[in-house]
Amino acid sequence: MACKRGALIVLEGVDKAGKTTQCKKLVEALQQSGHPVEMIRFPERSTTIGKLISAYLEKKSDLEDHTVHLLFSANRWEMVPHMKSRLEQGTTLVVDRYAFSGAAFTSAKPGFSLDWCTQPDVGLPKPDLVLFLQLSPAQAALRGHFGEERYETGVFQRAVQQRFEELMKDSSVNWKVIDASQSVEDVHDDITDLSLHVLREARERRLEELWKLCVRPQVSKSRPGGQRWPTPSFDLAHKYQGMLFVNKVLHIFSLNVIICFHFDRKN
Ligand SMILES: Nc1ncnc2c1ncn2[C@@H]1O[C@H](COP(=O)(O)OP(=O)(O)O)[C@@H](O)[C@H]1O
Ligand SMILES: [Mg+2]
Repeated sequence: MACKRGALIVLEGVDKAGKTTQCKKLVEALQQSGHPVEMIRFPERSTTIGKLISAYLEKKSDLEDHTVHLLFSANRWEMVPHMKSRLEQGTTLVVDRYAFSGAAFTSAKPGFSLDWCTQPDVGLPKPDLVLFLQLSPAQAALRGHFGEERYETGVFQRAVQQRFEELMKDSSVNWKVIDASQSVEDVHDDITDLSLHVLREARERRLEELWKLCVRPQVSKSRPGGQRWPTPSFDLAHKYQGMLFVNKVLHIFSLNVIICFHFDRKN
């Protein structure tokens, strides 16, 4: 990939945290300062898979929970060629929800682990920055009633918030938490500062793959049914690779000692 690629910036958070408002404002601000930029939102409801998801969210159809999770993931995967080609051309992508929402929403349902929920999205383009718009469910409720769509209930949103908190323990992802209870303009200023910084960094860095080097979440013994990400998971994966390397060096060293000892005895 050419080095001067665009950045992949994702906005996450519970419903009504202000993601869509802030994605639009960020796109406008970057455009005005001369950066090529495009907004993407998930689910992308215009595709064949997106239409199935849309009907499900609008409660016009029912789908089995595993099936719908995989459809959400497939909806992201089908956008990957478009995303990669835009990034390679130097266009920055501002994304309204991504794999983190997928994992947080499904794992908030009974019987789903965070581990299972992250697997279908392993290898997606890894965001350079994930902005988590932090807003308490009580504050979110003040921003208007939840609509008619599936998942729009206070109880479910609280469970989703907890899952996001688990996901944020994964230090292989560049999470930045934004206080979304501030005014729209103050939130925008925080987001723009962080994004401009990442835009400069991304130009010189390769696009990575999401959750590829992660050690998978483990079941917490202290919280039955809960999961935790080993922290920092990225470091653990590297430590493991480091141990393999040391192991190889020791093997070669021992082999040398045996050969030398053998020849020494012969002579
Ligand atoms: N910082 C803010 N303060 C107060 N209201 C906000 C703020 N950001 C967004 N809103 C309002 O809250 C509602 C939800 O915003 P939206 O951007 O659609 O959230 P999301 O996409 O996260 O669900 C909208 O009516 C929007 O105008
Ligand atoms: Mg929205």
